[in-house]
Amino acid sequence: MKILAIETSCDETAAAIVEEKNFRPVVLTSVIASQLAVHAKTGGVVPDLAARLHTEALPRVLQEATKHKRLDYDAVAVTVGPGLIGCLLVGAAAAKTVAAVTGKPFFAINHLEGHIYSAWLPSVRETPAPELPALVVIVSGGHSELVLMERHLYYQHLGSTRDDAAGEAFDKVARLLGLGYPGGPAISELARRGNEQEFGLPVPLEGEETFDFSFSGLKAAVVSLVGKLPKPLAAHTRADLAASFQATVSRIIARNTARAVQSFPEIRSVCLVGGVAANDHLRTNLERTVKQARPACHFIVPPYEYCTDNAAMIGAAALFHHLFGKADNWAGVTVDPNLKLGA
Ligand code: KG4
Ligand code: ZN
Repeated sequence: MKILAIETSCDETAAAIVEEKNFRPVVLTSVIASQLAVHAKTGGVVPDLAARLHTEALPRVLQEATKHKRLDYDAVAVTVGPGLIGCLLVGAAAAKTVAAVTGKPFFAINHLEGHIYSAWLPSVRETPAPELPALVVIVSGGHSELVLMERHLYYQHLGSTRDDAAGEAFDKVARLLGLGYPGGPAISELARRGNEQEFGLPVPLEGEETFDFSFSGLKAAVVSLVGKLPKPLAAHTRADLAASFQATVSRIIARNTARAVQSFPEIRSVCLVGGVAANDHLRTNLERTVKQARPACHFIVPPYEYCTDNAAMIGAAALFHHLFGKADNWAGVTVDPNLKLGA
């Protein structure tokens, strides 16, 4: 089974063809047309503009992903939420049209489910596939979730963010430090030259027995700290702020992950996914935490290119729908900007 997948939920226009081999998705093509350069000018995603850019980019992205019709596929999949409504509609209209005119099976995929199944995409290091039950840590621009997955396509919510998402906090602090959008890569670059011990920042919900996250208090602490420092901020101070902030985000995520691993002894793997999973400090810190909490537990992160939004992960999720679930009737599918996982 080869699946043509489309992802347009936010600011990346993406298409991919993914094939199943031994219960593992193999990426045949993956094309991403990024709108980042356009949105960097406004410091964030402008929804109407993003939707228009998807309509302009998608036909060529699809041409490239199908190698100008030389590559065939057996089914089509698309992200139907959560995301920006106008953006979701562009991808859904294209995918439904393909299904309607070819009669091929159609899979409606939740964007978060796509991030989850990015952990099954093989890396160049031939990492093993996650073993179930798995704990999935989803940290992206719009979400921070801890999900327990006992079997394929079944998701139990353990915790989510009570305010900002992890990536959102990176983006906001980056703006405060005068860095561009998106903030995550810029902060991690700056943090390389900084000292993470320099500024003590609060770890929200520290005393609470919860799997929830909170990042807005941390962001507010950085705002207040910057307010008290002499301006303009010295280069080393900005680097120390970036490093201290990044280390605290990492600590917050590691604390909840360790708590979940200790609470559910059946967990065999921990998967770190979503845009923020591209952060090296977090990857290293979380791997160490998981190995300390349970040495037998596998720790899995997708290759960098499948952490931020892409269509290969949507194709991967659709393959598991094909293997363990069923196809959807395209005529009855609508997009939902607030779609919940498992809905
Ligand atoms: O998964 P994603 O592409 O989009 C959503 O589904 O939201 O995640 C985008 C987020 C942005 O907030 C971006 O700043 C963050 O991921 N990000 C990073 C890094 N690369 C991207 N955050 C921290 N470190 C990075 N290296
Ligand atoms: Zn995403």
